Amino acid sequence: MEIIVLKCGGSVLEELNDDFFDSLRELIENGHYPVIVHGGGPAINSMLDLYEIPANFKDGLRVTCEKTMGIVEMVLSGQTNRQLCGMLLKHGFNALGINGSDGLCLQADYIDKSELGYVGTITNVNTNLIMMAIENGYIPVITPIAAAKDGFKLNINGDYAAASIAKALNADRCAFVTNVDGILINGEIVSEMTDREINTHISNGNIYGGMVPKVNSALTATAAGVETVMIISGKKQFYKNKCWHGTAIAAKERVLK
Ligand SMILES: Nc1ncnc2c1ncn2[C@@H]1O[C@H](COP(=O)(O)OP(=O)(O)OP(=O)(O)O)[C@@H](O)[C@H]1O
Ligand SMILES: [Mg+2]
Repeated sequence: MEIIVLKCGGSVLEELNDDFFDSLRELIENGHYPVIVHGGGPAINSMLDLYEIPANFKDGLRVTCEKTMGIVEMVLSGQTNRQLCGMLLKHGFNALGINGSDGLCLQADYIDKSELGYVGTITNVNTNLIMMAIENGYIPVITPIAAAKDGFKLNINGDYAAASIAKALNADRCAFVTNVDGILINGEIVSEMTDREINTHISNGNIYGGMVPKVNSALTATAAGVETVMIISGKKQFYKNKCWHGTAIAAKERVLK
């Protein structure tokens, strides 16, 4: 069973168009089983603004106090997940929204409670629950919120969640759908990038901000054995005539397609 994990960035959710859904349809017609993980950064920031709570980031991760966690869950699970499932429904797909803490789909540990608050790193993925949805014809749409051992919920960076889920499901591919066509260096899309090149471009500032957790998660996924990892656009056809478009990421100087 060829499983494809697609992480849909909050940056592009509002802009997902027919091209995106056509690619998704073609993927399914070609025998792939998509699992969607979503982000929601911009929507969380707008809601925090409304509540006059400042947004703070450390190394690309959102510092999450208890109050912020409440907002994160309200927005991601109550708004973003619903919006994405609604769009899938409109385009004729059978989506099943899952809050990552439901059925212990995602379990996590605090990364550093004193520095980051309720932010976690995934320790276990309930693959049975996800497979149950796939086997019954649904596209799981997973909100990156996890259950901690102490019963609290933790905010998980969507890119890291997608990489962990892809690894746990033995996915054939993990693709990060975002608001750019791939990794841009000096204004040009790079079609393939190795771990060494990525690290160089992070150090010299060509890769920055939200692209940093994305490429780091991409490298985690390749290192964990996910065969192909890509950064792709949600505004264009990312898959057409069995060809993928975007930047392919490879560990160990090797790009597998
Ligand atoms: N070298 C680069 N090439 C392309 N984009 C880059 C690069 N370096 C940094 N970026 C930035 O990374 C952004 C994508 O990451 P971002 O975290 O904003 O989106 P997302 O992960 O899709 O959404 P969300 O975090 O809400 O789920 C791009 O819009 C761009 O501004
Ligand atoms: Mg991001």
